[in-house]
Parts: sequence; structure tokens; C-alpha cells
Amino acid sequence: MKVSISVQQEKFYQIEMRKIAFTNQKGGVGKTTTTINTGAGLSKMGYKVLLIDMDPQANLTYSLKIHSSKLNKNIYHVLKGELKARDIIMSHSDFDILPASIELSGSEMELVNEPARENILKDALEDLGDDYDFVLMDCPPNLGLLTLNAFTASDELIIVLQSEYLALHGLSKLMDLIKVVQKRLNPNLKVEGIVCTLYDKRKNLNREVVGHIRDYFGEKVFDTVIRDNVALAEAPSHHKTIFEYDGESYGAKDYMMLAKEIRNGY
Ligand SMILES: Nc1ncnc2c1ncn2[C@@H]1O[C@H](COP(=O)(O)OP(=O)(O)OP(=O)(O)O)[C@@H](O)[C@H]1O
Ligand SMILES: [Mg+2]
Repeated sequence: MKVSISVQQEKFYQIEMRKIAFTNQKGGVGKTTTTINTGAGLSKMGYKVLLIDMDPQANLTYSLKIHSSKLNKNIYHVLKGELKARDIIMSHSDFDILPASIELSGSEMELVNEPARENILKDALEDLGDDYDFVLMDCPPNLGLLTLNAFTASDELIIVLQSEYLALHGLSKLMDLIKVVQKRLNPNLKVEGIVCTLYDKRKNLNREVVGHIRDYFGEKVFDTVIRDNVALAEAPSHHKTIFEYDGESYGAKDYMMLAKEIRNGY
């Protein structure tokens, strides 16, 4: 790990690089928003952060200011073995990014006959050495090969749940997959935490759902709940993190608190 000097007081000395995947096979629950803004929060604390877009929708990539002409070099080419991870790194003021593109949607089929196909991302990241304090991966909304690659390349998972009815529905499938990965592919993998997003305190139902999630997962649930906040929905269309778009918003406050909890959780 590199010790950065431009550190705010917030930064603790951290010895090992932490690799965290943000996941839920359900769509639209806040995975990409959480990956970007947690990464930005950690970066504000002085940590060196890499974001990896593992979703063929490439929402993370397009939510940040990345010129599409550069996207002819993306994570698809790394998974195919055509480029090294180092070759596709893009710099943002807060973090580095391994971008995705729609090409990635073909990779599930194309990689299916590769030997050790679940390990491709993990092996590719070795090229990066230990240049980063945090590597955050944004998973697609399914439990296919790209998600399996993210789980195999990670040490920690953060499950993102929307504070809505049916938040826990279908989660047993995800938990089963995590168990299989721990058994066969990555014994070090642990569920670091559960984060509830899109929370509206005026809605009784949201409060009830977060209560159920806490009953079910106990201590694993982060104290920070990400509130429903319009600035979080607007920031991507301006290609900004929440801190760049509106540093005073609830969204900025919540994601800074979450970043601190994640940092402390180690
Ligand atoms: N806390 C929030 N408050 C308001 N809007 C939010 C919040 N979190 C996310 N959004 C918006 O909700 C939508 C879905 O969020 P996001 O793209 O992060 O979910 P996702 O789980 O990554 O989706 P997908 O499964 O399609 O990848 C986006 O339009 C995003 O801007
Ligand atoms: Mg997403």
C-alpha cells in the first residue's frame, strides 16, 4: 500500500488492500450509486480507490465523466485476456476506474469454456499490485459469471438492499451462491455488511422494512441508512459524484458516514 501524504486526519493507516463487491441480483436498488459514492467518500478521507464496473449496462462508467471514445478499451478486453488491467485504467479526480461497455454482455457466453473462468478477474487484478487501499466492484443485477468473477476477486461483499417491500425476497439465492463461492472458489470471502438504501422516513413501510432487515441480519446491517435524496438521482446526469454535485445534501452526508463505517469495519 502507498502511504499518501495529502491525508486528512480521518485516514487510518491501513496495511492491506481491501477488495469489496457491492451486490444484489435485484435491479435498481442502489448498487452503482453506492459503489461510486462510497468510493468518493473513501477518497475524501485520503485513501487511494479503484472502482471496477462489472456490469454490461456500464452505468458506473457513464455516470462519471468518461469519454466514450476511450471505451474501446474496457474490462471486457481484460476478461478476454486481450489487455492488462493497467492498460484500461482511467483517472477521475477522486479515483481510478476500470470501465465497462455493452460489449461485456457477450462475455458470459464467450468465457463459458475458459478454464477457471470464475478466476479471470482475480488473476487480472494481480497486474495492479497493491497500488490501492480500496478496490470497489459494481456487480450487475444477476448471479451470472460476471458476478462470480467479482465474488472470487473480492475479500468482502456488501449487499445493497432497497428499503422497500420484497427487499429480502430472493435473497436466499444470493446467500446460497455466497456459500458455494466460499466453499469452492474463495474461502476468504465474507459478508462485510448490508446497506439499506432509498430510505424515506415518512413512509411507515420503509421503517418497517429496515426493522425486518435488522432483525434478519442483526449486527451485519450498517448503522448508516442511505436516504432517498434527489441529488443522488441527479448527480449521474451531471457526471458527478454526490460530493462534487452537492456536498451539503443528505446523500453526501449519508455516503460519507457509510464510507467511515466501512473503513472502521476492518
Ligand atoms: N438514495 C437514493 N435516492 C434517490 N435516488 C437514488 C438513490 N439511490 C439510487 N438512486 C437512483 O435510483 C436508480 C437506481 O440506482 P442504481 O443505478 O444505483 O441501482 P443499481 O442497483 O445499480 O441498478 P442496476 O441493478 O440496474 O445496476 C438510479 O436512477 C439512481 O440515480
Ligand atoms: Mg448498477
